[in-house]
Amino acid sequence: MRIGLVGAGRIGTFHASTLAQLDQVETLVVTDAFPEAAARLATERGWETAESVEDLLGRVDGVVITSATASHGEILRQSALAGVPTFCEKPLALSLAETIDVVRVVEESGTPVQVGFQRRFDEGYRAAKQAIDSGELGFLHTVRLNTNDQSPPPAAYIPTSGGLIRDCNVHDFDILRFLTGREVVNAYALGANKGEDFFAEGGDVDTAAALLTLDDDTLAIVSATRYNGAGHDVRAEVMGSEGTVGVGYDESLAVRSAEPGAVSPTAQKWSYMERFQPAYRSELTAFTEVVAGSRPSPCTVRDALAAFRIAEACEQSRIKGQPVALSDIGTIAP
Ligand SMILES: NC(=O)c1ccc[n+]([C@@H]2O[C@H](COP(=O)([O-])OP(=O)(O)OC[C@H]3O[C@@H](n4cnc5c(N)ncnc54)[C@H](O)[C@@H]3O)[C@@H](O)[C@H]2O)c1
Repeated sequence: MRIGLVGAGRIGTFHASTLAQLDQVETLVVTDAFPEAAARLATERGWETAESVEDLLGRVDGVVITSATASHGEILRQSALAGVPTFCEKPLALSLAETIDVVRVVEESGTPVQVGFQRRFDEGYRAAKQAIDSGELGFLHTVRLNTNDQSPPPAAYIPTSGGLIRDCNVHDFDILRFLTGREVVNAYALGANKGEDFFAEGGDVDTAAALLTLDDDTLAIVSATRYNGAGHDVRAEVMGSEGTVGVGYDESLAVRSAEPGAVSPTAQKWSYMERFQPAYRSELTAFTEVVAGSRPSPCTVRDALAAFRIAEACEQSRIKGQPVALSDIGTIAP
Protein backbone atom coordinates (compact mmCIF):
# COMPACT_ATOMS: atom_id res chain seq x y z
CA MET A 1 0.00 0.00 0.00
CA ARG A 2 1.02 3.63 -0.52
CA ILE A 3 1.18 5.71 2.66
CA GLY A 4 1.30 9.50 2.80
CA LEU A 5 3.21 11.36 5.51
CA VAL A 6 2.36 14.96 6.37
CA GLY A 7 5.09 16.55 8.50
CA ALA A 8 8.75 15.62 8.08
CA GLY A 9 9.94 16.70 11.55
CA ARG A 10 11.19 14.64 14.50
CA ILE A 11 8.42 12.06 14.89
CA GLY A 12 7.58 12.19 11.16
CA THR A 13 11.11 11.12 10.24
CA PHE A 14 10.98 8.34 12.84
CA HIS A 15 7.55 7.06 11.78
CA ALA A 16 8.62 7.18 8.12
CA SER A 17 11.55 4.85 8.87
CA THR A 18 9.28 2.48 10.75
CA LEU A 19 6.63 2.50 8.01
CA ALA A 20 9.26 1.81 5.35
CA GLN A 21 10.26 -1.37 7.23
CA LEU A 22 6.73 -2.81 7.05
CA ASP A 23 6.18 -5.38 4.27
CA GLN A 24 2.72 -3.98 3.58
CA VAL A 25 4.09 -0.53 2.73
CA GLU A 26 5.15 -0.22 -0.88
CA THR A 27 6.24 3.41 -0.77
CA LEU A 28 5.80 6.70 1.05
CA VAL A 29 4.68 10.06 -0.28
CA VAL A 30 5.89 12.94 1.89
CA THR A 31 4.77 16.54 2.22
CA ASP A 32 5.66 19.31 4.66
CA ALA A 33 4.89 23.01 5.01
CA PHE A 34 8.58 23.40 4.15
CA PRO A 35 9.03 21.52 0.83
CA GLU A 36 12.77 21.24 1.47
CA ALA A 37 12.06 19.24 4.67
CA ALA A 38 9.90 16.79 2.69
CA ALA A 39 12.51 16.56 -0.06
CA ARG A 40 15.34 16.00 2.43
CA LEU A 41 13.49 13.05 3.97
CA ALA A 42 12.07 11.54 0.76
CA THR A 43 14.88 11.83 -1.74
CA GLU A 44 17.45 10.15 0.52
CA ARG A 45 15.22 7.08 0.66
CA GLY A 46 13.78 7.06 -2.85
CA TRP A 47 10.28 8.06 -1.70
CA GLU A 48 7.97 10.50 -3.46
CA THR A 49 7.08 14.04 -2.43
CA ALA A 50 3.78 15.88 -2.84
CA GLU A 51 3.30 19.61 -3.29
CA SER A 52 0.33 19.81 -0.93
CA VAL A 53 -1.91 17.72 1.31
CA GLU A 54 -4.55 17.70 -1.42
CA ASP A 55 -2.04 16.40 -3.98
CA LEU A 56 -0.86 13.76 -1.49
CA LEU A 57 -4.37 12.54 -0.61
CA GLY A 58 -5.07 11.73 -4.24
CA ARG A 59 -2.02 9.46 -4.42
CA VAL A 60 -2.19 7.30 -1.28
CA ASP A 61 -4.22 4.52 0.42
CA GLY A 62 -3.70 5.94 3.91
CA VAL A 63 -2.13 9.02 5.49
CA VAL A 64 -0.05 9.57 8.63
CA ILE A 65 -0.22 13.09 10.10
CA THR A 66 2.94 14.02 12.01
CA SER A 67 2.87 17.77 11.50
CA ALA A 68 2.73 20.36 14.30
CA THR A 69 -0.31 19.97 16.58
CA ALA A 70 -1.91 23.25 15.44
CA SER A 71 -2.21 21.85 11.90
CA HIS A 72 -3.73 18.43 12.81
CA GLY A 73 -7.34 19.62 12.78
CA GLU A 74 -7.31 21.11 9.30
CA ILE A 75 -5.38 18.21 7.74
CA LEU A 76 -7.49 15.58 9.50
CA ARG A 77 -10.75 17.21 8.37
CA GLN A 78 -9.35 17.21 4.83
CA SER A 79 -8.32 13.53 4.88
CA ALA A 80 -11.57 12.43 6.55
CA LEU A 81 -13.71 14.29 4.01
CA ALA A 82 -11.59 12.75 1.22
CA GLY A 83 -12.28 9.30 2.73
CA VAL A 84 -8.58 8.47 3.19
CA PRO A 85 -7.93 6.32 6.31
CA THR A 86 -5.80 8.41 8.63
CA PHE A 87 -3.35 8.00 11.47
CA CYS A 88 -3.01 11.27 13.38
CA GLU A 89 -0.45 12.02 16.06
CA LYS A 90 -1.78 13.22 19.42
CA PRO A 91 -3.35 15.57 20.30
CA LEU A 92 -5.99 16.23 17.62
CA ALA A 93 -5.83 20.00 18.12
CA LEU A 94 -4.60 22.68 20.49
CA SER A 95 -8.07 23.58 21.80
CA LEU A 96 -11.06 21.64 23.09
CA ALA A 97 -13.41 23.45 20.69
CA GLU A 98 -11.39 22.35 17.66
CA THR A 99 -10.99 18.82 19.03
CA ILE A 100 -14.78 18.54 19.31
CA ASP A 101 -15.22 19.90 15.77
CA VAL A 102 -12.71 17.39 14.39
CA VAL A 103 -14.45 14.49 16.16
CA ARG A 104 -17.76 15.59 14.65
CA VAL A 105 -16.35 15.84 11.10
CA VAL A 106 -14.51 12.50 11.35
CA GLU A 107 -17.53 10.64 12.72
CA GLU A 108 -19.89 12.11 10.11
CA SER A 109 -17.43 11.16 7.35
CA GLY A 110 -17.22 7.52 8.47
CA THR A 111 -13.50 7.52 7.55
CA PRO A 112 -11.43 5.31 9.87
CA VAL A 113 -9.03 7.37 11.99
CA GLN A 114 -6.43 6.09 14.46
CA VAL A 115 -4.81 8.44 16.99
CA GLY A 116 -1.14 8.03 17.99
CA PHE A 117 -1.33 6.92 21.62
CA GLN A 118 1.37 4.29 21.28
CA ARG A 119 1.38 3.23 24.95
CA ARG A 120 -1.71 1.15 24.12
CA PHE A 121 0.67 -1.03 22.05
CA ASP A 122 3.48 -1.25 24.62
CA GLU A 123 3.86 -4.78 25.99
CA GLY A 124 4.26 -3.59 29.58
CA TYR A 125 1.04 -1.55 29.58
CA ARG A 126 -0.79 -4.42 27.85
CA ALA A 127 0.40 -6.87 30.51
CA ALA A 128 -0.71 -4.44 33.23
CA LYS A 129 -4.14 -4.22 31.63
CA GLN A 130 -4.35 -8.00 31.57
CA ALA A 131 -3.46 -8.12 35.27
CA ILE A 132 -6.21 -5.59 36.05
CA ASP A 133 -8.80 -7.30 33.86
CA SER A 134 -8.03 -10.75 35.29
CA GLY A 135 -8.88 -9.50 38.80
CA GLU A 136 -5.53 -10.61 40.22
CA LEU A 137 -4.89 -7.10 41.64
CA GLY A 138 -8.20 -7.10 43.54
CA PHE A 139 -9.90 -3.72 43.55
CA LEU A 140 -7.72 -0.82 42.35
CA HIS A 141 -7.22 2.03 44.76
CA THR A 142 -4.32 4.04 43.30
CA VAL A 143 -2.66 4.48 39.90
CA ARG A 144 0.59 6.43 39.58
CA LEU A 145 1.71 7.60 36.12
CA ASN A 146 4.56 9.78 34.95
CA THR A 147 6.03 11.17 31.74
CA ASN A 148 9.48 12.63 32.36
CA ASP A 149 11.31 13.87 29.28
CA GLN A 150 15.09 13.76 29.48
CA SER A 151 15.54 17.31 28.19
CA PRO A 152 13.28 20.06 26.83
CA PRO A 153 12.34 20.18 23.14
CA PRO A 154 13.55 23.20 21.13
CA ALA A 155 12.18 26.49 22.53
CA ALA A 156 10.27 27.07 19.28
CA TYR A 157 8.27 23.87 19.88
CA ILE A 158 6.76 25.05 23.18
CA PRO A 159 4.28 27.63 21.82
CA THR A 160 3.14 25.06 19.21
CA SER A 161 2.70 22.23 21.74
CA GLY A 162 -0.43 23.20 23.67
CA GLY A 163 1.58 23.10 26.91
CA LEU A 164 3.12 20.29 28.94
CA ILE A 165 -0.17 18.84 30.18
CA ARG A 166 -1.89 18.69 26.77
CA ASP A 167 1.31 17.63 25.02
CA CYS A 168 2.79 15.04 27.43
CA ASN A 169 0.32 14.10 30.18
CA VAL A 170 -2.32 13.49 27.54
CA HIS A 171 -0.50 10.14 27.01
CA ASP A 172 -0.96 9.35 30.72
CA PHE A 173 -4.63 10.29 30.59
CA ASP A 174 -5.21 8.03 27.59
CA ILE A 175 -3.41 5.07 29.16
CA LEU A 176 -5.24 5.62 32.46
CA ARG A 177 -8.57 5.16 30.65
CA PHE A 178 -7.17 2.22 28.65
CA LEU A 179 -5.83 0.43 31.74
CA THR A 180 -8.73 0.96 34.10
CA GLY A 181 -11.67 1.17 31.68
CA ARG A 182 -12.94 4.02 33.90
CA GLU A 183 -13.51 7.74 33.33
CA VAL A 184 -12.01 10.65 35.26
CA VAL A 185 -14.57 12.77 37.12
CA ASN A 186 -12.42 15.33 38.92
CA ALA A 187 -8.97 16.91 38.46
CA TYR A 188 -6.67 19.09 40.53
CA ALA A 189 -3.37 20.11 38.93
CA LEU A 190 -0.36 22.24 39.79
CA GLY A 191 2.52 23.44 37.62
CA ALA A 192 5.97 24.88 38.25
CA ASN A 193 8.86 26.47 36.38
CA LYS A 194 12.41 25.94 37.58
CA GLY A 195 14.05 25.55 34.16
CA GLU A 196 14.51 27.84 31.19
CA ASP A 197 12.50 31.06 30.90
CA PHE A 198 10.81 30.20 27.60
CA PHE A 199 8.25 27.95 29.35
CA ALA A 200 6.90 30.74 31.55
CA GLU A 201 7.16 33.25 28.70
CA GLY A 202 4.87 30.99 26.64
CA GLY A 203 2.40 30.57 29.53
CA ASP A 204 3.56 26.98 30.01
CA VAL A 205 5.16 25.05 32.88
CA ASP A 206 8.14 22.71 32.77
CA THR A 207 6.82 20.43 35.52
CA ALA A 208 3.24 19.47 36.41
CA ALA A 209 1.42 17.16 38.80
CA ALA A 210 -2.25 16.23 39.01
CA LEU A 211 -4.57 14.33 41.32
CA LEU A 212 -7.48 12.66 39.55
CA THR A 213 -10.55 10.87 40.83
CA LEU A 214 -12.05 8.12 38.69
CA ASP A 215 -15.73 7.29 38.52
CA ASP A 216 -15.22 4.19 40.71
CA ASP A 217 -13.28 6.19 43.34
CA THR A 218 -9.85 4.99 42.21
CA LEU A 219 -7.30 7.79 42.69
CA ALA A 220 -4.62 8.64 40.13
CA ILE A 221 -1.45 10.65 40.64
CA VAL A 222 0.00 11.90 37.37
CA SER A 223 3.13 13.95 36.78
CA ALA A 224 5.39 15.21 34.00
CA THR A 225 8.56 17.19 33.56
CA ARG A 226 10.70 18.42 30.70
CA TYR A 227 13.85 18.02 32.84
CA ASN A 228 14.82 14.48 33.76
CA GLY A 229 18.56 14.21 33.33
CA ALA A 230 18.46 10.53 34.34
CA GLY A 231 16.77 9.73 31.00
CA HIS A 232 13.31 9.53 29.47
CA ASP A 233 11.26 8.02 32.28
CA VAL A 234 7.76 6.77 31.59
CA ARG A 235 6.24 4.53 34.23
CA ALA A 236 2.98 3.34 35.67
CA GLU A 237 2.20 1.70 38.99
CA VAL A 238 -1.20 0.12 39.38
CA MET A 239 -1.99 -0.68 43.01
CA GLY A 240 -4.80 -2.90 44.11
CA SER A 241 -6.11 -4.61 47.23
CA GLU A 242 -4.44 -7.89 46.20
CA GLY A 243 -1.39 -6.84 44.21
CA THR A 244 0.59 -4.12 42.45
CA VAL A 245 2.14 -4.07 38.98
CA GLY A 246 4.60 -1.61 37.52
CA VAL A 247 5.28 -0.64 33.91
CA GLY A 248 8.68 0.72 32.89
CA TYR A 249 10.58 -1.29 35.50
CA ASP A 250 12.95 -2.83 33.00
CA GLU A 251 16.28 -1.81 31.46
CA SER A 252 14.69 1.52 30.46
CA LEU A 253 14.15 2.50 34.12
CA ALA A 254 15.79 5.89 34.64
CA VAL A 255 16.02 5.60 38.42
CA ARG A 256 19.11 4.76 40.47
CA SER A 257 18.24 3.08 43.72
CA ALA A 258 19.66 4.96 46.70
CA GLU A 259 19.67 1.78 48.80
CA PRO A 260 23.23 0.69 49.58
CA GLY A 261 24.07 -2.43 47.57
CA ALA A 262 20.87 -2.40 45.51
CA VAL A 263 21.37 -3.12 41.81
CA SER A 264 19.95 -0.48 39.47
CA PRO A 265 18.87 -1.79 36.06
CA THR A 266 20.99 0.31 33.75
CA ALA A 267 23.16 3.34 33.35
CA GLN A 268 21.87 3.85 29.82
CA LYS A 269 19.72 6.90 29.07
CA TRP A 270 16.86 6.09 26.74
CA SER A 271 15.15 8.57 24.44
CA TYR A 272 11.37 8.31 23.98
CA MET A 273 12.02 6.85 20.53
CA GLU A 274 14.15 4.04 22.01
CA ARG A 275 11.71 3.49 24.87
CA PHE A 276 8.69 3.12 22.58
CA GLN A 277 10.19 1.83 19.34
CA PRO A 278 8.38 -1.57 19.47
CA ALA A 279 5.11 0.17 20.41
CA TYR A 280 5.43 2.65 17.52
CA ARG A 281 6.02 -0.27 15.15
CA SER A 282 2.97 -2.14 16.48
CA GLU A 283 0.68 0.90 16.26
CA LEU A 284 1.75 1.60 12.67
CA THR A 285 1.34 -2.07 11.77
CA ALA A 286 -2.17 -1.83 13.22
CA PHE A 287 -2.73 1.26 11.07
CA THR A 288 -1.89 -0.70 7.90
CA GLU A 289 -4.63 -3.15 8.97
CA VAL A 290 -7.02 -0.23 9.44
CA VAL A 291 -6.12 0.98 5.93
CA ALA A 292 -6.65 -2.54 4.57
CA GLY A 293 -10.08 -2.60 6.25
CA SER A 294 -9.23 -5.70 8.29
CA ARG A 295 -9.69 -4.10 11.74
CA PRO A 296 -11.42 -1.07 13.26
CA SER A 297 -9.37 1.80 14.66
CA PRO A 298 -7.72 0.71 17.94
CA CYS A 299 -7.65 4.30 19.23
CA THR A 300 -10.46 6.49 18.00
CA VAL A 301 -11.01 10.24 17.88
CA ARG A 302 -13.48 9.72 20.78
CA ASP A 303 -10.62 8.28 22.84
CA ALA A 304 -8.51 11.30 21.90
CA LEU A 305 -11.32 13.65 22.94
CA ALA A 306 -11.70 11.87 26.29
CA ALA A 307 -7.97 12.20 27.04
CA PHE A 308 -7.95 15.83 25.90
CA ARG A 309 -10.89 16.70 28.17
CA ILE A 310 -8.87 15.45 31.17
CA ALA A 311 -5.92 17.58 30.01
CA GLU A 312 -8.24 20.55 29.64
CA ALA A 313 -9.61 20.06 33.18
CA CYS A 314 -6.04 19.85 34.53
CA GLU A 315 -4.94 22.95 32.63
CA GLN A 316 -7.98 24.91 33.90
CA SER A 317 -7.35 23.63 37.42
CA ARG A 318 -3.67 24.66 37.26
CA ILE A 319 -4.61 28.17 36.17
CA LYS A 320 -7.50 28.60 38.64
CA GLY A 321 -5.72 26.89 41.54
CA GLN A 322 -8.73 24.74 42.36
CA PRO A 323 -10.20 21.34 41.39
CA VAL A 324 -12.24 21.12 38.18
CA ALA A 325 -15.07 18.65 37.58
CA LEU A 326 -15.01 16.88 34.21
CA SER A 327 -18.74 17.53 33.98
CA ASP A 328 -17.83 21.22 33.52
CA ILE A 329 -15.67 20.47 30.47
CA GLY A 330 -17.39 20.63 27.09
CA THR A 331 -18.07 17.51 25.06
CA ILE A 332 -20.41 16.12 22.41
CA ALA A 333 -23.23 13.64 22.66
CA PRO A 334 -22.15 9.98 22.59
N1 LIG B 1 3.26 9.91 20.09
C1 LIG B 1 4.42 10.39 20.46
O1 LIG B 1 5.14 9.78 21.24
C2 LIG B 1 4.89 11.69 19.90
C3 LIG B 1 6.23 12.03 20.03
C4 LIG B 1 6.64 13.25 19.48
C5 LIG B 1 5.73 14.10 18.84
N2 LIG B 1 4.43 13.73 18.78
C6 LIG B 1 3.45 14.62 18.11
O2 LIG B 1 3.83 14.72 16.74
C7 LIG B 1 3.61 16.04 16.26
C8 LIG B 1 4.91 16.59 15.66
O3 LIG B 1 5.88 16.65 16.67
P1 LIG B 1 7.45 16.79 16.29
O4 LIG B 1 8.17 16.68 17.58
O5 LIG B 1 7.80 15.87 15.18
O6 LIG B 1 7.47 18.31 15.77
P2 LIG B 1 8.50 18.97 14.76
O7 LIG B 1 8.39 20.42 15.00
O8 LIG B 1 9.84 18.31 14.85
O9 LIG B 1 7.93 18.63 13.30
C9 LIG B 1 6.72 19.13 12.79
C10 LIG B 1 6.82 19.18 11.27
O10 LIG B 1 5.51 19.53 10.77
C11 LIG B 1 5.69 20.48 9.73
N3 LIG B 1 4.44 21.24 9.59
C12 LIG B 1 3.94 22.18 10.42
N4 LIG B 1 2.74 22.63 9.95
C13 LIG B 1 2.48 21.93 8.82
C14 LIG B 1 1.41 21.93 7.89
N5 LIG B 1 0.35 22.73 8.04
N6 LIG B 1 1.49 21.08 6.84
C15 LIG B 1 2.56 20.25 6.68
N7 LIG B 1 3.60 20.22 7.52
C16 LIG B 1 3.57 21.04 8.59
C17 LIG B 1 6.89 21.33 10.16
O11 LIG B 1 7.47 22.01 9.07
C18 LIG B 1 7.80 20.22 10.73
O12 LIG B 1 8.62 19.65 9.74
C19 LIG B 1 3.07 16.85 17.44
O13 LIG B 1 1.68 16.91 17.33
C20 LIG B 1 3.47 16.04 18.66
O14 LIG B 1 2.54 16.16 19.73
C21 LIG B 1 4.00 12.55 19.26
